[in-house]
Amino acid sequence: MSTKITLSAKDVATLDTKYTRIVVTEESLGHHRFVETADGHTEYRQGAGKWSEVTPRTFRTLVRSLVQSLKSHKVEFASIALNYTDFPKLQQYDEAWFTSTIAENLALAAYDYTVYKSKKDEKHTLKEIVILNQNSAGAKAGFARGCVVAHYTNSARDIANTHGDDLTPKALAAAAKKLATGTKVTVKILGLTEIKKLKMNLVEAVGKGSHNEPQFIVMEYWGKGNGKLKMENGKVSDENKPLVLIGKGITYDTGGLNVKPSGSMHDMHMDMSGGSSVMAAIVAASKLGLKKNIVALIPAAENAISSRSMRAGDIVTAMNGTTVEILHTDAEGRLVLADALTYSERYKPKAIIDVATLTGAALVALGQQASAVMTRDLNLETTLRTLGEESGDLVWPLPLWDEYKSPLKSARADISNIATNFARWGGAIEGGMFLDAFAPKNVPWAHLDIAPRMDSIPSDKLAKGSTGEPVRLLIKWLETY
Ligand code: BES
Ligand code: MN
Ligand code: ZN
Repeated sequence: MSTKITLSAKDVATLDTKYTRIVVTEESLGHHRFVETADGHTEYRQGAGKWSEVTPRTFRTLVRSLVQSLKSHKVEFASIALNYTDFPKLQQYDEAWFTSTIAENLALAAYDYTVYKSKKDEKHTLKEIVILNQNSAGAKAGFARGCVVAHYTNSARDIANTHGDDLTPKALAAAAKKLATGTKVTVKILGLTEIKKLKMNLVEAVGKGSHNEPQFIVMEYWGKGNGKLKMENGKVSDENKPLVLIGKGITYDTGGLNVKPSGSMHDMHMDMSGGSSVMAAIVAASKLGLKKNIVALIPAAENAISSRSMRAGDIVTAMNGTTVEILHTDAEGRLVLADALTYSERYKPKAIIDVATLTGAALVALGQQASAVMTRDLNLETTLRTLGEESGDLVWPLPLWDEYKSPLKSARADISNIATNFARWGGAIEGGMFLDAFAPKNVPWAHLDIAPRMDSIPSDKLAKGSTGEPVRLLIKWLETY
């Protein structure tokens, strides 16, 4: 049971007394109390600081913290009235942004992952939040959009939060199909036989240590020209080129024979967060009725340990013919993504974004507050940074320069999957540079290393576990590119 978020033209005075009224004041941040009003309502007052100082960033956190307070006080029904015109710094965006942001962050903060809790009801006290006084067409459209964005972001979180024994590559493929049911997104699953036939040897190598076979998930949404302009006879015409999203789908990452130490492995069921977020984004795009062609590719595999696992030192020929020396079995994400990048070529992509929990080094570089973006396309970098600010899924650039190429030069093969001297410096860039060798030429491409944002942190004011990032950013990008 998730919290219902509704929009109402009603004024707070006419609303049933069972609704706790949220009142945002200009008192200092965090200042809060419950008040009984003369007309028999309960009011929850929380300070936001001077309204003139509220920024898009602090506004999102404010909305989330309101929900956290309601939850901790076991409030079941609440109403909230906020006026766009009260917050001058939010007016860099339109009113639709305002109501979309409210809806998104209410729903994201209300989310809890309770699938494996035997006593569920205690956790689901918050039944409904009504957003009041929103009458304009823009406000209504923004609200409707925000509900879709939040719903699919939370779906991505549900999938990512599922542990590795329940979410195998086949289960991830089934989750993609379920997510797309009733929408215009088609889902095609390539199993091990097809993976071998296509010579996606890197996907095969990463998955071969597990009895849960790898799967390659292909999702297509042909929204341009009402779905008539699609791939015909395996060919895409120039005007129908899709935007391609690629998501890392490692359903569990033990590290392989280069096994991870304890303390670094237990949350590696979320190593498919890139995959779940691109699935969520393409389905949301369909739900929003975008007139765009979009493809999502998810190479799914379990990086397991057995006598059949790939070995450190194995050389594998990638789908595009490049030979790869697998110097480190824990650098598996870049391997499956490399073949997915090659596979994407058949679509003649207009632009590509890959999304992956690729490196711990991205956390070393940025902390847990932002994902890393790496691209040679300055426009795309600027676009993603800007849309990151607008959506809340913050991204920050790291370079992809030719100067970083040489550490991956292999003595025995065309390229190595980690620096051949085992140096750990610039590890996030190293991952990006490996992918750069496989990205289709002359196509704008960006790599998002979302390892920093895989797990929520307290300041996010979200449930523990998956953040669902960067679904909001991807949707914005699909809407505007
Ligand atoms: N899935 C991990 C990266 C990761 C680490 C994601 C922490 C989220 C949180 C990835 O497959 C990995 O193991 N990367 C290695 C690369 C190294 C061997 C070059 C890493 O970061 O140590
Ligand atoms: Mn790994
Ligand atoms: Zn991994």
